[in-house]
Amino acid sequence: MNGRLSDAWLEELRSRVSLEEVVSEYVPLKQKGRRFWGCCPFHNEKTPSFSVDSEAQLYYCFGCHKGGTVINFVMDMERMEFMDAVRLLADRAHMELPERSSQPGQAAANRDERERMYEANRAAARYYHDLLWTEEGASALNYLYGRGLNDSDIRRFGLGASPKGWDGLLSHLEAQGFELALLERVGLAVRRDNRCFDMFRGRVMFPIINAQGRVLGFGGRAMGDAQPKYLNTAETPVFNKRRELYGLNYARKERSVGHLVLVEGYMDTVSLRKHGVQGVVATLGTALTEEQARLMKRYAPQVWISYDGDAAGQKAALRALDILDGQGLPSRVIDYPAGMDPDDFIKANGLGGFEALPRHDSTSYRMIRARDGLNLAEQEGMTQYALRCCAILKQVKSPIDMENHLRRLVNETGYDREILLRQIGASPQTPSQPPARRRTPAPKAASGVEKAEQELISMLAAGLISTELLKPVDFTDETHRALAEWLLSGKPAGAYVEGVQDEAERQKIMQALNYAPLPADREKALEEAEECLRTIQYNRDSQRSEQIKQQINSASAEQKAEMYRRMAAMWDHED
Ligand code: UTP
Ligand code: MN
Repeated sequence: MNGRLSDAWLEELRSRVSLEEVVSEYVPLKQKGRRFWGCCPFHNEKTPSFSVDSEAQLYYCFGCHKGGTVINFVMDMERMEFMDAVRLLADRAHMELPERSSQPGQAAANRDERERMYEANRAAARYYHDLLWTEEGASALNYLYGRGLNDSDIRRFGLGASPKGWDGLLSHLEAQGFELALLERVGLAVRRDNRCFDMFRGRVMFPIINAQGRVLGFGGRAMGDAQPKYLNTAETPVFNKRRELYGLNYARKERSVGHLVLVEGYMDTVSLRKHGVQGVVATLGTALTEEQARLMKRYAPQVWISYDGDAAGQKAALRALDILDGQGLPSRVIDYPAGMDPDDFIKANGLGGFEALPRHDSTSYRMIRARDGLNLAEQEGMTQYALRCCAILKQVKSPIDMENHLRRLVNETGYDREILLRQIGASPQTPSQPPARRRTPAPKAASGVEKAEQELISMLAAGLISTELLKPVDFTDETHRALAEWLLSGKPAGAYVEGVQDEAERQKIMQALNYAPLPADREKALEEAEECLRTIQYNRDSQRSEQIKQQINSASAEQKAEMYRRMAAMWDHED
């Protein structure tokens, strides 16, 4: 699961931090026996169904089935990657991360340098912001007023002004004890002809802040026609623009947004948010990447692409749809009137106008774009349009969606639906779309066998039944069988759960580990276990006999004779 950290090290981390203590910082908990209870931080509820098992050091919500170890909890609450959550908890537990570097102390030194870089960025952001309110920042302030922002917007987004001279920031930060070399590495200073000067000069500054509140870098907008229009911090040890999004620091607090709104620009983000749109984030001057799509997935179940209403924006929207599809993230596209960007539009039409804008599902949007450059009044154009749409529809999986789009296409093109269906069948697969990932289906109401297997696993994990009683093969379900194998070898559940990346799979595991109610003592547990095993065995026998019946039914007379011969031989053998 994680090449860098040994199981033993992770085990120690999990045992040194108390899960109930960490959870209590987010949700008030009340103890009842070995479990602590509270209202689930992951879904809306009034009566507590979220619990922390203080012995197993696992949390589980009986309502939404989310669960895991303290590392999973921090990842979910703080929307962190595994290693970041580990780092945070290790700090808390006063544990050093194991070092892989050949030079001892190197990892710690790198960490310290990154810390210093964040500090330098933060100090720079403060300096730029403060400068706005001085005479030197007056033109930037007026520029921002001119773009419709007021003082409170400017504070909320931490906007600023970079000085017009050569080294205003550098001398300020050097006076604060930051080294020139560090400022160069973090992209605040540039060196030319062996002289160092400020990277950003005479620009309006947008700090880029991540979900943990760290300042990663800056976007600086020219106030006149200077090129480039936006100057961005280049790649640094603390800033990778392919992995970050502008505006995530605000999205973090909007836990319940149903979708993120993805825009192209800094100003679009600020402007939509100013007008009350939630969940707005922007890419940082590059096309949307897979990493960013995965990042967004942690914040909301859907993304609404809200790119500029020009040809470039439309082309970028199509590419973004492919990326989001590839990550299994449902999306829509907001369609702006020609030539407008989100900032222009919401300034002219307000939040109401924004909310009334058409938003297309991904297939409809692709079909709209399929018209681009075609003259549908001519047969040639219509034919091309139909062909393009059929290639698009080949990707549609839901039969109902397919039916809706197909009806529209019949109406628009006048082609017979049978003809269109044949064309859809014949269209070559577009290579831009990777095959959909295999997904574990969401947990449904547990059948008798499923419940029996869950109860066995819970009793096993709680130490109510001995490991001699069960074998992995007793379990029908693959997930259950693998989990049982782990528990039967005497290993703790936490280490298993933590490594499961697929959310639905993890929920299924947590459900199996939290079957309730469990028998009160080991004697009753033994009876229950017998009952469970009987249920599983009964189900297996009836499935097997069903299979045999079907085989016999579909067999020829000759095959039947052979089957009976073999069955007879089996009985003979047993005697
Ligand atoms: P736009 O050119 O659409 O700018 O670029 P904008 O967001 O509408 O900005 P305003 O309203 O004119 O101020 C969209 C985004 O592309 C990146 C920036 O992130 C910008 O916000 N970009 C653009 C650059 O990185 N460099 C550039 O020179 C231009
Ligand atoms: Mn724009």
